[in-house]
Amino acid sequence: KKSVRDVDVKGKRVFMRVDFNVPLEDGKITDDTRIQETLPTIKYLVEQGAKVILASHMGRPKGEVVDSMRLTPAAARLGELLGKSVKKLDESIGENVKAEIAKMENGDVIVLENVRFHKGEEKNDPELAKAFAELADLYVNDAFGAAHRAHASTEGIAHHLPAVSGLLMEKELSVLSKALSNPERPFTAIVGGSKVKDKIDVINKMLEIADNVIIGGGLTYTFFKAQGHEIGKSLVDNDKLEVALGFIEKAKELGKNLYLPVDIVVSDDFSADANTQIVPVDSIPAEWEGIDIGPKTREIFADVIKDSKLIVWNGPMGVFEIEPFSHGTRAVAEACAETQGYTIIGGGDSAAAVEKFKLKDKMDHISTGGGASLEFMEGKVLPGVVALNDK
Ligand code: 3PG
Repeated sequence: KKSVRDVDVKGKRVFMRVDFNVPLEDGKITDDTRIQETLPTIKYLVEQGAKVILASHMGRPKGEVVDSMRLTPAAARLGELLGKSVKKLDESIGENVKAEIAKMENGDVIVLENVRFHKGEEKNDPELAKAFAELADLYVNDAFGAAHRAHASTEGIAHHLPAVSGLLMEKELSVLSKALSNPERPFTAIVGGSKVKDKIDVINKMLEIADNVIIGGGLTYTFFKAQGHEIGKSLVDNDKLEVALGFIEKAKELGKNLYLPVDIVVSDDFSADANTQIVPVDSIPAEWEGIDIGPKTREIFADVIKDSKLIVWNGPMGVFEIEPFSHGTRAVAEACAETQGYTIIGGGDSAAAVEKFKLKDKMDHISTGGGASLEFMEGKVLPGVVALNDK
């Protein structure tokens, strides 16, 4: 795909889609990684003398104006990080926006309001896409985290303007595609998270392309139930028992190593002061709930990770947000930090875990996309990428 470096941007009005969908608590940003990661593209455009018009979604306001989902805190943080004044507008299309853009000097940066305040955004309404396109001369997509969405500001607009990728988009695509198209082996995929249904496609794909597939987190109990074990009050997708057995079969047929936990931390309550015990997977007590992988499992998983040349991780091993249930996820994160192999951390929960354990600097690539990196790993095409111009 063509990148922002392949086109002339000087004096141009650039509509740049970013993913500033950052976590907020009481109006304060708790993790600004996504904003930081767009700085190279924004700085490049500023230095080249472009007029930088930033657009993003935040949360899921469903086409309504929701004050807590404004982009005001993100724009303020961007201004701090850039060390430069950044104007935040309260709208994302229309005459007022056009008038503000007309006043911009080369190198100025403005942030538009949350594009999802318009119903047309998620519907990929052509009228809204046109209204965005009217604001600019060039479209730059740096929102890898939203590239799996075919929305007006991620896909529709690209049909009306020259459309190129930003530097973050370029980096994400090149790291992920290089790693997955010609993986260094042994290649280990770690798939966690709570629901089998969200991970079916990725497990299938990873069984095909990886050598080892490690499964942890809430989704494992569906496997155990399918194998006839008591799972107590653990999470389960009852309509996915066959699917789970199918994965075990597929791994055997393809000669791949599928690692499931051998021991489990169970708890009698979903809280930090609950009673816990460690049990083998075939001995989960009826009234208890599986909440994390056990110590034997952590060792087995860590050994596999340490012997791998490529590790791709998506989804936590347990309820890592609660300290007593975080050890399994921490052990996997630490093994990823220590291995000599190349580590790619899918965005979303796994990235949040790595951040929480302060191991960010030890990973080779932490994706800014949760759903987007998952869909990429599944081998799906991302509509926000397809819409960009080819070299
Ligand atoms: C994300 O956080 O994964 C992206 O910003 C996409 O958000 P969405 O799932 O609301 O489309």
